[in-house]
Amino acid sequence: MADKLIIFDTTLRDGEQSPGASMTKDEKLRIARQLERMRVDVIEAGFAASSNGDFEAVKAIADVVKESTVCSLARANDRDIARAAEALKGARSARIHTFIATSPLHMEKKLRMTPDQVFEQAKLAVRFAKNLTGDVEFSPEDGYRSEVDFLCRVLEAVIAEGATTINIPDTVGYAIPELYGNFIKTLRERIPNADKAVWSVHCHNDLGMAVANSLAGVKIGGARQIECTINGLGERAGNCALEEVVMAMRTRRDYFGLELGIDTSQIVPASRLVSQTTGFVVQPNKAVVGANAFAHASGIHQDGVLKARDTYEIMRAEDVGWAANKIVLGKLSGRNAFKQRLQELGIELDSESEINAAFAKFKELADRKSEIFDEDIIALVSDESVTS
Ligand code: KIV
Ligand code: ZN
Repeated sequence: MADKLIIFDTTLRDGEQSPGASMTKDEKLRIARQLERMRVDVIEAGFAASSNGDFEAVKAIADVVKESTVCSLARANDRDIARAAEALKGARSARIHTFIATSPLHMEKKLRMTPDQVFEQAKLAVRFAKNLTGDVEFSPEDGYRSEVDFLCRVLEAVIAEGATTINIPDTVGYAIPELYGNFIKTLRERIPNADKAVWSVHCHNDLGMAVANSLAGVKIGGARQIECTINGLGERAGNCALEEVVMAMRTRRDYFGLELGIDTSQIVPASRLVSQTTGFVVQPNKAVVGANAFAHASGIHQDGVLKARDTYEIMRAEDVGWAANKIVLGKLSGRNAFKQRLQELGIELDSESEINAAFAKFKELADRKSEIFDEDIIALVSDESVTS
């Protein structure tokens, strides 16, 4: 049996940190239900201590969601952690995710703490969280820009305190796939009790490499949890996109060889829901969930796909929740695609010469109009010059 890969969705927490993407409790609840339907393993529902509204949202999700683990973020202090535990009380399966920055820059300039103080605080936070729930995740914020020796010291200590998941954030999207993968590998090799925890990747997309970095963290580093968001929603350039990373894992199972629990047919509905809720439009050429992700416009591609879909499709549109792939008729389309559309519309032309005449008119129109719709074709064939 292949190893399982845990999908940890943070649309409702890190995704919401995207400027302009804040969501109401009811909106979050609707998205959480969709994530549960998609069989996401862990839903990070929010940051309970950040506001009363977020506390209520985490609580509502914890009370309702039964199939996924529900998680709340908490800074590494008792108040935040207690608040997270309180919000998660009703959950069938709860996780507290506590974090503190470990990079020299963040410790000195942001936290104004010494490394020893950070070390102690991380340890105490995990100890406190562990008394409240068995499932504790620890993140060294800005982990990828932290010094390896110090990071090893902190991570070994928090695992000894009972952290069950160790997440390595590339908080500012600075990583390069091979380097990030090797970074995680090094940590796992150097920390004596590393195998007591599940290792996790959390990548931001500032250089457009969040998905690639996450995949390298799994393949090279041996991570078994990926943190991601629907449509790659998230602060600045966003987070690792769930739909991309999941479909990369599924489509290239030959390479990754890991089991996923995700029901991929729920991906497009989830993408639409998040887009409608936040008002963040999905770009047409976005992988998997963009309107053009399964659309074919060139005549050569259309002809190929009509003969055998694998010629230009590596995934099935239906497998991710689209009704079907799309043959977009326009000036690049060939006769084969045109004929196929006539058939789909139930239009029967009597002879090859009628089809040729209709096709010539179609090409003429396509030079003036970027996309030819079904109504255009119907109008075109009812024109006398085609059928007489
Ligand atoms: O990017 C980050 O460092 C985070 C942590 C809080 C996990 O979101
Ligand atoms: Zn993040």
